Amino acid sequence: MQLYVDSANLTEIQHAASLGFISGVTTNPSLLAKEDPSIDIRSLILDIHKSVGGHTSVEVISTETDGMLREADEILKWFPEATIKIPFIPAGLTAVRKLADQNIPTNVTLLFTATQALIAANAGATYVSLFMGRLDDIGTDSLQALNDTCEIWDTQGLESLIIAASIRTPIHLLECAKAGAHIATVPYKVLMQSIKHPLTDAGLASFLKDATKLKM
Ligand code: E4P
Repeated sequence: MQLYVDSANLTEIQHAASLGFISGVTTNPSLLAKEDPSIDIRSLILDIHKSVGGHTSVEVISTETDGMLREADEILKWFPEATIKIPFIPAGLTAVRKLADQNIPTNVTLLFTATQALIAANAGATYVSLFMGRLDDIGTDSLQALNDTCEIWDTQGLESLIIAASIRTPIHLLECAKAGAHIATVPYKVLMQSIKHPLTDAGLASFLKDATKLKM
């Protein structure tokens, strides 16, 4: 399972990228809105893309197919490797099909059931983003939805890549990997929580202390 960072904060993204285990970044309008409002979105997204060097999903904000396609054209002028992130609404499905027919990669977002993911895959989505945390927030078992999706993918041999999104804890990350998601997009804080272990820190402190007794 590949790991993407789910953030629009350049400092976080640059640090995560410097650690060498991140293959991409996903942004959304809410993540971008948390950043300095004086920063031009186009230049922020270009800086984000340069920092990671891999997959970069950029979300459209139109709710009509034509508007989504116009935004996609604009984003692809910024950088042609962009993956266009499109909400799972009927107008979005039409846009995904049109983009897929031009071999433009899409990431269909705001998926909460395996059935929605299956429909997005049939519309030609390159990536399907199934949200975990937001399901758990309303008392619905996100792991069941992800397990159903992964099982359907195995049974049907579907090609779209499953992104586990809306990750809130290191346990989510573990569950996504066990379920068979291809990718998890993870907030910076959860990535850092997943790296840290008190026994690693204590073990290193003890090795370093003992190393001072060695003749080198
Ligand atoms: C990523 O593609 C999603 O936009 C993101 O994971 C949503 O996360 P949230 O539910 O924590 O906002």
